[in-house]
Amino acid sequence: MSEPTIKKCLFPAAGYGTRFLPATKSIPKAMLPVVDKPLMQYGVEEAIEAGMNNMAIITGKDKRAIKDHFETNDELEKQVSGTSKESYLDGIRHVIDSAVFSYTRQIEMKGLGHAILTGETLIGDQAFAVVLADDLCYSPEQGVLSQMLELYKKYQCSIVAIEEVPVDETHKYGVIAGEEIEPGIIRINDMVEKPAPENAPSNLAIIGRYILTADIFDVIRQTPPGKNNEVQITDALMTQAKLGGVIGFKFRGQRFDCGSVDGFMEANNFFYENVYKALD
Ligand code: G1P
Repeated sequence: MSEPTIKKCLFPAAGYGTRFLPATKSIPKAMLPVVDKPLMQYGVEEAIEAGMNNMAIITGKDKRAIKDHFETNDELEKQVSGTSKESYLDGIRHVIDSAVFSYTRQIEMKGLGHAILTGETLIGDQAFAVVLADDLCYSPEQGVLSQMLELYKKYQCSIVAIEEVPVDETHKYGVIAGEEIEPGIIRINDMVEKPAPENAPSNLAIIGRYILTADIFDVIRQTPPGKNNEVQITDALMTQAKLGGVIGFKFRGQRFDCGSVDGFMEANNFFYENVYKALD
């Protein structure tokens, strides 16, 4: 049997990004740049680094900005061709050459579980990765998805990336608990979406990187709305954890919460100093 691998990566990007209004009035939050690159492109590059070549994007009402970004712009190519500015397009050209992009629309906002289920038509019957592009990960030696893929090859079950958060921030995340079976690798036996600190099973928070086995779609279909009356992927994963096992993985690297203005500014400062200027 050939080695299990993952080729498709799902990007839920239908949210309104209200915390960033008016910037997100006409462009999706995932298109906001950290220094000179949209959040979504960082996520797509991470997936490509992990060997994935099929990007499935869940959009909201307006997908134009995302679609335009991941397609060649002939006029722009003509404009910069042969000039000193041409190298600015190297990164995105590589991305466009390395992957195919497909899109589907999430009509109603009924939670992350619902968004992922919307992607079933693009994913089909295979394990896949999920990237929430507003969790921006910096991991120069090996990207977080690539780290998770290695683990998937060994355990062949759903995997969530986790990190320790301050106890008073558990209400922002899915929070897990379980048994550490290898250093940094936890077999999950409890999972709660956005618990108050007193109800949190630990301070290990799920961040926006998942590997999900194909049966997740059936499980989501049977998952009733939970926190905030939305269908939560955390609840579906708890069912999977009971059925067959789900792993929490303390990834190597640094995560920036670009869903908040503070985290977004922090990411901009960090990437400016450590990536952009370092390449200058
Ligand atoms: C979602 C998930 C949550 C997870 C978080 C990571 O929440 O529901 O379990 O911890 O992403 O960023 P959101 O940030 O969309 O509210």
